[in-house]
Amino acid sequence: MGASQRTRPGDFEVDFVDLVELGLPFMDEPNHPRLRAYTKQHTLDWSARVDAVDAIVLVTPEYNHSFSPALKNALDYLAAEWWRKPVAFVSYGGVSAGTRGVTALETVVSCLGMVRVGAAVEIPFASRLIVDEAFSPSDKEVAVLGKLLDETALLATTLTPLQG
Ligand SMILES: Cc1cc2nc3c(=O)[nH]c(=O)nc-3n(C[C@H](O)[C@H](O)[C@H](O)COP(=O)(O)O)c2cc1C
Repeated sequence: MGASQRTRPGDFEVDFVDLVELGLPFMDEPNHPRLRAYTKQHTLDWSARVDAVDAIVLVTPEYNHSFSPALKNALDYLAAEWWRKPVAFVSYGGVSAGTRGVTALETVVSCLGMVRVGAAVEIPFASRLIVDEAFSPSDKEVAVLGKLLDETALLATTLTPLQG
């Protein structure tokens, strides 16, 4: 995909992961993930899912000015599967729009070898944008999402040949 082309959500094949549905227990592998000597079926399944994608978009709130523990746990399970994958953030919360959680995650994704996409969707007071149980984003959020997807697609094209 060229840099000048606009990407849209429909341009991607999305594997949507809901961490509640994924149901990973608190990290229970005996070996360091770098060894990739997984012993549990839930880890093998999670590994295959992350391996299969070219890029990651993390949608996350913040808890006590930091990352969500469920998300950190899901990241901690694996290692090489994350390596050199672009990662983009969509954050939500109160006045800070979950941005402190994203800041806390930056060191984590960097340690895992992921490459952060510059554009980020930041949604303050997200609950106010829920109408009839559906999320109703503003024009600003939609515009930034377009930029985020453009950058993610471009980085994925560049980084995929470098992944192990
Ligand atoms: C334990 C806890 C700590 C929270 N800390 C923050 C916070 O530091 N900043 C903030 O903006 N929102 C905070 N919130 C509000 C969450 O961001 C908000 O409830 C969000 O909708 C949670 O997303 P989730 O329901 O997808 O987990 C906190 C919520 C909980 C339960």
